[in-house]
Amino acid sequence: MTERRRLIAGNWKMNGLMADGLARAKALRTRAVRTRRALPDIAICPPATLLAPVAKLLAGSPLALGAQDCHAADKGAHTGDIAAPMLAELGCRYVIVGHSERRTNHRETDQQVKAKAESVLRAGMTAIVCLGERAEERKAGRHLQVIGGQLDQSLPAEATAENTVIAYEPVWAIGTGLTPTPADIEEAHRHLAGRLPGPIRILYGGSANAANAKALLGTPGVDGLLVGGASLDPEAFWSMVLAAA
Ligand code: 13P
Repeated sequence: MTERRRLIAGNWKMNGLMADGLARAKALRTRAVRTRRALPDIAICPPATLLAPVAKLLAGSPLALGAQDCHAADKGAHTGDIAAPMLAELGCRYVIVGHSERRTNHRETDQQVKAKAESVLRAGMTAIVCLGERAEERKAGRHLQVIGGQLDQSLPAEATAENTVIAYEPVWAIGTGLTPTPADIEEAHRHLAGRLPGPIRILYGGSANAANAKALLGTPGVDGLLVGGASLDPEAFWSMVLAAA
């Protein structure tokens, strides 16, 4: 079996005005072009307002651009939404879909997440499909059933290792400083991998940081990280990239 390339993706969420975001992107680009080590795949997912200027900054560097969401339709009367072809045109290579904050705050269903992922694939980009159980679901011992169901219902039929990445993000681990045990992560990733149609990469996300990156990346079945808070600090994010190198 060929070694899968690791992916370290930074999800800036709704953080960063122009000066701040550009400084962060520049700091990462500088580190990326200076390094002599073989790097993993790296994706930077700034807020939509920063995509165009950050795309310019990252052009020609090893850092790929990603968006945090898109609409399921390619165009149309959807005030305030952004279509996948618009993101592709800006230079995005990845789009995060189904993040738990969107599932919760915008009541996105698995069916909607799947439709969004399909639009990402149609536009020639890679979908990062997020899923994960809530604390009460884990407490009730239903976590595998929950994430398996989310995967089955939100994965496009056309998903392959080239166009799709899964991100396992337990909701209770996001922004809390809590992480599952290595055994729990391995169990979840194995469960998901067993339902996937091919060698699609599975990232772990939820309170990943510079201190725990090495251990998380060393957990069997973890193909990379989806990083929230720690991705806002270029130094911390870059050390996570190097931990995956
Ligand atoms: P934190 O790394 O801040 O816990 O966020 C994880 C996340 O939601 C990434 O998408």
